Amino acid sequence: MASEFDQYARDYEAMQKDPLRHSFSKDGTFFFERKWLLIRSYLASQGRGLSSMSWLDIGCGKGELLRLGRPEVASIAGCDVSTAMLDLCPDIPSRPMTAPERLPFPDQSFDLLTAVCVYHHVAPDGRAALTREAARVLRRDGVLAVIEHNPLNPATRLIVSRLPMDRNAILLSAKETRRLFDDAGLRNLDTAYFLYLPEKPFRMFPVLETALKRIPLGGQYAVFGHKR
Ligand SMILES: C[S@@+](CC[C@H](N)C(=O)[O-])C[C@H]1O[C@@H](n2cnc3c(N)ncnc32)[C@H](O)[C@@H]1O
Repeated sequence: MASEFDQYARDYEAMQKDPLRHSFSKDGTFFFERKWLLIRSYLASQGRGLSSMSWLDIGCGKGELLRLGRPEVASIAGCDVSTAMLDLCPDIPSRPMTAPERLPFPDQSFDLLTAVCVYHHVAPDGRAALTREAARVLRRDGVLAVIEHNPLNPATRLIVSRLPMDRNAILLSAKETRRLFDDAGLRNLDTAYFLYLPEKPFRMFPVLETALKRIPLGGQYAVFGHKR
């Protein structure tokens, strides 16, 4: 069954071009680095060592985030509903998803799950099932991190409204994401807002973003939760 992103896979980079996004960082890699930094510092704050972790990235796309974190964790895996996106990351161990709310892995397979800019492409009535699936494949004490565009940030809304691949996107707030976590039985929830600063100032004053992380205006947010 074809998925929406099959049609975007080939021109994925070109389709992400937007002057406002570009003014934040000339190099798209920054956006992945920033996310990896956030996930890693959250895990460190919880006393969780990365080196023994098995990590699944749901909706991994071209596998950029997994590639960045791979040297630091025990194992990586990706899955996606788009086989065309997975074809672009042959170096990443991945499995196609044959149903959008079904993860193709056994119960309790992973210590860390991430879903980055995926949920706004999932139909609202499918999000709870996907989150329950995430909880199912997480090991006890495992962590789920969902990273999403922040609908409260006007620049984010403008960029999303201009990108062709987001034409069907339905953004969700951090509050809605926390409710999904809660309903799936995930606990100890934490939210961090980030992408306040463009790349250059961020690299000069990274602590500024840490200081702002509870203010709900960053370009994106991350919700973290634990399986008990
Ligand atoms: C905007 S891209 C993000 C890709 C990658 N996570 C990243 O940050 O570059 C959204 C991805 O989510 C995938 N996707 C959409 N619905 C999904 C679902 N229900 N389960 C898993 N992946 C899904 C799409 O195929 C696409 O690869």
